[in-house]
Amino acid sequence: IRVAVIGGGASCEHDVSLASAASVADHLDTAAYDVVRLTIDPHGTWLDREGRPVGLTGAACLLRRCDVVLPVVHGPHGEDGTLAALCDLAGVPYVGSGVRAGALAMDKWTTKLVANAVGVATAPGVLLTPATRAGHRWTHPVVVKPVAAGSSHGVTLVDEPAGLDDALAAAFALDDRVLVEDLVVGREVDVAVLSRPDGSRVVSPALEIVVDGLFGFEEKYGGHADFRLPAAISETERKSLKDAAVAVYDALGCAGVARVDFFLPDQVAPGSTAGPVLNEVNTMPGFTARSQVPRMFAAAGLPYADLLDLLVRDALA
Ligand code: DAL
Ligand code: MG
Repeated sequence: IRVAVIGGGASCEHDVSLASAASVADHLDTAAYDVVRLTIDPHGTWLDREGRPVGLTGAACLLRRCDVVLPVVHGPHGEDGTLAALCDLAGVPYVGSGVRAGALAMDKWTTKLVANAVGVATAPGVLLTPATRAGHRWTHPVVVKPVAAGSSHGVTLVDEPAGLDDALAAAFALDDRVLVEDLVVGREVDVAVLSRPDGSRVVSPALEIVVDGLFGFEEKYGGHADFRLPAAISETERKSLKDAAVAVYDALGCAGVARVDFFLPDQVAPGSTAGPVLNEVNTMPGFTARSQVPRMFAAAGLPYADLLDLLVRDALA
């Protein structure tokens, strides 16, 4: 089976995507798969396995010569449905979410609307555009983030009013829509959901991120965060996380594996019910050997190589 593994991409998550794609290629069983590595450089130019620029038409031809595509590109111009669209148009099966789920989940504002519509709580938030930006008043600690980005690029925890302008500038540098969310104080717990061709859902054990403050870029990739796996949570919490993760995964129409990130708040806000608060959904989650998803499924008895094998075979099924 010939598998195209795409990495890189023209987004702020380029380097992370390169690391994920390299790890995926390393863990694919070489006895079963002929791996064709393709890279999208930071400017959006496609490079073949020898690193030669091939252009979009050339890339589509290379993809067509493969049996299945593993688009390991995080963030805009990749995880947002664009690569799924290319594969759809080229008629090549691919691992993971389709155009609609990728686009909906990449957009943290629509994710919030969809989650709330199916009864899953999210942090109260305000959507700002260049036109409404100046009118925003700071009232309490908030997290400022671009609507569509990843790996915490452009995300700032603002706990004093003086920090708001810089935080907005950092977020607007990456997107023309910005989310200002109430800070949720609590534990950060992730769950991965995997769909099977028979329509069943496999839910990973919950993973808790043990970090002091914001789980930002430095904590994600600088080795300053610890994972607790499985998370130290009650049976009630485990069940509510699982139900919420599957509800959001299904409402967005995800496929393959997605990592659904939650907070378990320390305090329940007046007027709301206790339970997980959705942070975001990653339809192409980090895939290095140290990333959450490979470790979550390994903890459930599904090693990294077997997880990839399952994803590829299910995409072909
Ligand atoms: N966006 C990063 C890669 C993640 O979700 O793991
Ligand atoms: Mg993300």
